[in-house]
Amino acid sequence: MSRFLAACRGEEVDRPPVWIMRQAGRYLPEYRRLRQQAGSFFALCTNPHLAAEATLQPLRRFPLDAAIIFSDILLPLQALGVEVAFSENGGPRLPAPLTTPQQWARLAPSNSWDSLSFVGQALAQVRRHLPPEVALIGFCGAPWTLACYLLEGRGSSDWAQARRAAYQAPEELGRLLQTLGQAMGDYLVWQVRAGAQAVQVFDSWAGVLPADLYQALVVPALQRLLEQLEGLGVPRILYLGQGQHLLGAVRHLPLEVVSVDWRTPLAYAAQATGKGVQGNLDPAVLFAPPEEVIHRTRQMLRSAPPRGYIANLGHGIWPETPVEGVEAFLHAVRESP
Ligand code: CP3
Repeated sequence: MSRFLAACRGEEVDRPPVWIMRQAGRYLPEYRRLRQQAGSFFALCTNPHLAAEATLQPLRRFPLDAAIIFSDILLPLQALGVEVAFSENGGPRLPAPLTTPQQWARLAPSNSWDSLSFVGQALAQVRRHLPPEVALIGFCGAPWTLACYLLEGRGSSDWAQARRAAYQAPEELGRLLQTLGQAMGDYLVWQVRAGAQAVQVFDSWAGVLPADLYQALVVPALQRLLEQLEGLGVPRILYLGQGQHLLGAVRHLPLEVVSVDWRTPLAYAAQATGKGVQGNLDPAVLFAPPEEVIHRTRQMLRSAPPRGYIANLGHGIWPETPVEGVEAFLHAVRESP
């Protein structure tokens, strides 16, 4: 029924399903209008009707195989007692980052998502509006990527504080990651009950860790997160940013699909993990002339495994992306045999 869910399960499909990471966003004029109407990104996320509308906007414009609920990986940190602010430009900020192991230990391992009821309401509302063949994806941040923001308080190019902590206080950091894994697994189960049919865990900054540390510190927390979804029949996708050296480490995790960026060859990711794969066009390609986008997309499709493959970008779409580039990408996937 759903090409996307079938591909996640490794079943044969007529063509690869396709969706776009960050498909609702500033490259769409209708999103910019909605965000202005809402007043802020935060207001857009926390109003279930507006969040549902933002989720559906790209589906109205493009023939996509999946919708992803409009929210942010940092919002659930508020349910764990951490304040998060979204500045108008310059990305998210935590006014009070957790810098010491004592502060990490105080992170409340809450399993109540009542304060995020807008996410559950938006999921239910979107599901009602989607045709049955379009799947609805729920998501969360991976423990390591969330810890990066918790420790640094803002985005970083090298995540120096988080990496230092991994060597200075590995045990305490490991416990923080476990707490986050427990909480995010519970959050995803809650999203599935509200209507999510697949889940994606974003480990955007996975690749800043070497493989041995990722294995020792992060994989146990991911295990704890993912095993909570066991038996729900919902495909689990892990986005592994810059994670070419980490494919072996995630091989034994209970998940169905590994999502990789443009640096990681799709066939290699499939072979190294034994899982389905998702990705991996460089978001920058969409700025090329449409013929070049089509050429590069076809090249990507030829390199993908015949089963268990979902076409996507290698990371979130950029705000300045021309809509023609998106159309060319989708056209190339949809006409593929
Ligand atoms: O994919 C979708 O369409 C669903 C919505 C979604 C958002 N954030 C909305 C958003 C998803 C899945 C995310 C995940 C997310 N958020 C990640 C993991 C994926 C990735 O890109 O690596 C991370 C690291 C974040 C944290 C975050 N939120 C950052 C770094 C930023 C600023 C960067 C930017 O694009 O401005 C945000 C803000 C944010 N989250 C926006 C959107 C649409 C932009 C807000 C705006 O409208 O100004």
